[in-house]
Amino acid sequence: MELENVAAIILAGGKGTRMKSQLPKMLHPVLNEPMIYHPLRASRLAGIPPERTIVVVGHGKTAMIEAVSRFGNYLFAEQPEQLGTGHAVMVAQETAQTLADVKHILVFYGDNALLHPRSLSQMLAKHLERQPLVTLATAHLQDPIGYGRIIRDEQTSRFKAIVEETDCSPEQKLVKEFNPGVYVFDAAWLWATLPKLQKSPRGEYYLTDVPALAIAENSAGVETLEIDAVETLGINDRVQLAEVSNILRQRVLRDLMLNGVTITDPATTYISAGVQIAPDSVIEPNTHLRGQTQIGTGCTIGPNSLLRDAQIGDNCQIIASVVEESVLEEAVKVGPFSRVRPGCHLERGAYMGNFAEVSRSHIGANSKQGHFSFIGDATLGEEVNVGAGTITANYDGINKNKSVIGSRVFLGSDTTLRAPIVLGDEARTGAGSVVTKNVEPGVTVVGLPARPIKRKKILDSINSTNNPNNSKEGTVEEVSEL
Ligand code: UD1
Ligand code: CA
Repeated sequence: MELENVAAIILAGGKGTRMKSQLPKMLHPVLNEPMIYHPLRASRLAGIPPERTIVVVGHGKTAMIEAVSRFGNYLFAEQPEQLGTGHAVMVAQETAQTLADVKHILVFYGDNALLHPRSLSQMLAKHLERQPLVTLATAHLQDPIGYGRIIRDEQTSRFKAIVEETDCSPEQKLVKEFNPGVYVFDAAWLWATLPKLQKSPRGEYYLTDVPALAIAENSAGVETLEIDAVETLGINDRVQLAEVSNILRQRVLRDLMLNGVTITDPATTYISAGVQIAPDSVIEPNTHLRGQTQIGTGCTIGPNSLLRDAQIGDNCQIIASVVEESVLEEAVKVGPFSRVRPGCHLERGAYMGNFAEVSRSHIGANSKQGHFSFIGDATLGEEVNVGAGTITANYDGINKNKSVIGSRVFLGSDTTLRAPIVLGDEARTGAGSVVTKNVEPGVTVVGLPARPIKRKKILDSINSTNNPNNSKEGTVEEVSEL
C-alpha cells in the first residue's frame, strides 16, 4: 500500500478522570507498557512511521512527551485545555501541515490499546481506494454502553451521524452499531471543515460531528468499515484497564503459539507486545518477558524467569533467573537463581550457574561462573573459570573500577579481585586470594594480598591440581614479591 501521503494523529490529551489517578491515563501500564505504546505500535505496524505521527498531549504532557519519545521519534501537538476530540485534532493541524504531501489523515484515540494493525491497514486501504471525505470504522455490540452510536438512514441505511451516548434519544440508545473512534480523513477537506464544528451542549468540540458534515456536503462522502468489537474496548477506568491488559496478553500468547513457540502454561506467562521469539523455543511457567526482548530458536526460558530488553541467541537456557538490558549469544546457560544486570554481553557458550551476578560486563565464550559470584565492570576473555565465591570488588566507595581478565584465567574459589586490576591470559589465583596488583600472563598468585608463586612452584601447583592431596596453593612460604 502506498502510504507516503498519509499522516496519523493520535489523541492522548484527555485527563482520564475515571482512572482516579495522579498518573496520566495514557501512562498506566497495559501488559507492562504505557497504554499509549499500544496504539503507537499499531499505527507503526500499519506502515505509518513515527516521523509522520502526531501525538496530541495535554494532561501530564511532560511525562507523556518523555514516555512517547522513548518509544520513537514522534511529533507532538499541545492541547493546553481539553476542549474535546474535535479540538484535539484542531491543535494538531499546524504540525500536520508542516509535513510534506499529507493527503490523508488517520485519527484514533490513545486509549484504544486493542486496535489491531490489520484493521488500520484495512481502513487505509479502503480509504485510498474509494477516496471519500471520511472513512469511519464501526462495530457492533449487544449493548454498546458508553460509545457514540452510528445513526443510519432507515431506507438507504446510509450513514447519517454519530450521536454521543449522553445526547442519544431512548431509541438511539438501542442502536447496536457504535463508533470505535478510528477515522481516515481527506486532509484538505478536514482542515477546511474543522472551523465549522459547533460546541456541544457540554462545551466540547466533538470529532464525532465531522462525518455528518461530510454527508451534508456529499451524500457519498462517508465510507464505513466494520471492525471486530473486541478491538474497540476503550480504557476509561481501572476495571477496563485490567480487562484490556488480559485480552492483549492472550492475543500476544496466541500469536506466538501459532508462530511456533511453545508456551507451557499460558495462564502464568506474561509476554509484552514488543517481544519477539523465534519458533521452537519453549517458555516455561511463571515467566515474564518484557520490553523489546528478542529470543532466538531452540531456547528454554523459565520456569520463573524475568527478562527485560534482553537479546537472547539460539539454544540458550535461562532457569529461574533475571536478565535485563543485556545480550546473550548462542548456547548461553543462566541459572537457576542468577542475575544478569544491565549492560552485559555473554559470548557463546558462557555459563552462569547458581547465585551468580554479572553487571556491566563482557564475558568471553565458554567462560564459567558456577557458584555464588559477582562480576561487575569487568571484561573476561574466553574459557575463564570463575571459582565459587569469587567477586570483583569494583566499588571503592566513590568510583566503579574495571577488572580486565584474560582468556583461560583460573580464579580459585573465593578470590577477591580489587579493581582496577588486570589479569593476563592464563593467570591463576589460589583459593581465598585477595588480588590487589595486576597479574602477568601465566602467573599464579596466592594469599592476602596475593603474590606470585615462583616459576617452578607454578608448575608444581598446576601438577598438584591433578592430585588433590598434594595441593600447596596458597601457602605463604612459596611466594615472592612482584
Ligand atoms: C469517544 C467518542 C465516542 C466513541 C469512543 C470510542 C468523541 C466525542 N466520542 O468517547 O463516540 O464511541 O470514544 O472509544 O470523540 N482527548 C483529547 N483531548 C480532549 C478530549 C479527549 O486528546 O480534549 C483524547 C483522550 O485522551 C482519549 C480520546 O481523545 O484518548 C477519546 O476521549 P474520551 O474522553 O476517552 O472519549 P470517549 O468518551 O471514550
Ligand atoms: Ca475513551
